[in-house]
Amino acid sequence: PVRFAGRDFLTLRDFNRSEIEHLLWSSLCLKSRIKENGEDYRPLLGKSIGMIFQKRSTRTRLSTETGMTLLGGHAAFLGPSDVHLGVNETIKDSARVLSGMVDLILGRVYDHQDITDLADEASVPVINGLSDLYHPLQILADFVTLQEHFGFLQGLKIAWVGDGNNILHSLMYGCAKLGIELSVATPLGYEPDKEVTQYAISLASRNKTNFNLTQNPFDAVYRADVIVTDTWISMGQEEEKIKRLNDFSAFQIDRKMLREANGNWVFMHCLPRKPEEVTDDVFYSKNSLVWQEAENRKWSVMAVMLNLLKHYEPKLPRPLF
Ligand code: CP
Ligand code: NVA
Repeated sequence: PVRFAGRDFLTLRDFNRSEIEHLLWSSLCLKSRIKENGEDYRPLLGKSIGMIFQKRSTRTRLSTETGMTLLGGHAAFLGPSDVHLGVNETIKDSARVLSGMVDLILGRVYDHQDITDLADEASVPVINGLSDLYHPLQILADFVTLQEHFGFLQGLKIAWVGDGNNILHSLMYGCAKLGIELSVATPLGYEPDKEVTQYAISLASRNKTNFNLTQNPFDAVYRADVIVTDTWISMGQEEEKIKRLNDFSAFQIDRKMLREANGNWVFMHCLPRKPEEVTDDVFYSKNSLVWQEAENRKWSVMAVMLNLLKHYEPKLPRPLF
C-alpha cells in the first residue's frame, strides 16, 4: 500500500515505483472525473497552500492555483517581491509561520538546500516547484502525457538532447525507477550532476533498464520514441547566455536529427521554449506534445496535493504503465 499523507514532495528519489505510478494513476483519474465527466469533486474544501516563488513561473503557478481551486481549496501566491523569506526573515522562521496558516507549502527556489531547509522546519508537507537540482512535478506531467499518448511507459526509449539540468535530473530518476530506457546527450562540460548520475545509474541497473550518456545527439536520438529538451539557459544562468549559445550550437533539435528517431516519435519540452533549442517545424508539429504536457501539469500537481493531504484511491481501473 502506498502512503503519502504528511510526506514532502521534493524529489522523485524519495518515491518508489508504485508510489510514482499511484501519482500518475491519480492524475489520470482526476482528469477523467473533473475534466471529461464534469464532476464537482472538492475534497480539499477549507484547505490552503502557500506558494513561495523566488523565480518567475507561468505553468507551476497557474496549475497549482487553478488545481487547488478545482479541488475546493485556496492557493496564496507569494512572489519574489512579496515575501520576506530570504530577505527580511529566515527560511526557518518563514516555514514556522506558514505552517501555522496553511496546510501545504510549494516553493520555487534557486538553491535546492533552501527547499530541504523549508521542509525540515515546516510542520506541513512541502512541494518542490523547481530548484536548481530538480523539478519533479514536471516529470510527473511528462509521464502522464506519455501514458495518454502511447498507452504505456515501459518499453519506450526517451532521448534527452540538451543541458544537464534540473529537468533532466528528475527525468533520470523517473526513468530509472519506472524502467524506461533513457539516452542523454549533453555537450562536453554540461553533463548532469555527478552524484545524481551515479544514483540514477545504480537504480537503472538494479531495474535492468538502459541508461546511456553521450555527447552525440544523433546517437541519443537513434530509435528513440520520445525526444525531450529544455532551455539551454535556465533561470539564474542569464549571464552565461553567449557562451552557452555557442557551446550548444550542435544541439538544436530539427527534422534532420529526428530522422534517427523511430517513425512515431513525439517531442516534449517543459516550456518556456526558446527558438534555438528546437526548430519551429518540430515544436509546432503534430508530433509535438508540448501543450498537452503543459496542461497535464495541472492534473499532476492536483494528484500530488490531494495525496499529500489525504490518501486518494483512484476510481479508474489501474493502467498498465
Ligand atoms: N515548466 C515549468 O515549470 O514552467 P513555469 O516556469 O512556467 O512554471
Ligand atoms: N531548466 C529550466 C526549467 C524551467 C521550467 C529552469 O530551471 O529555468
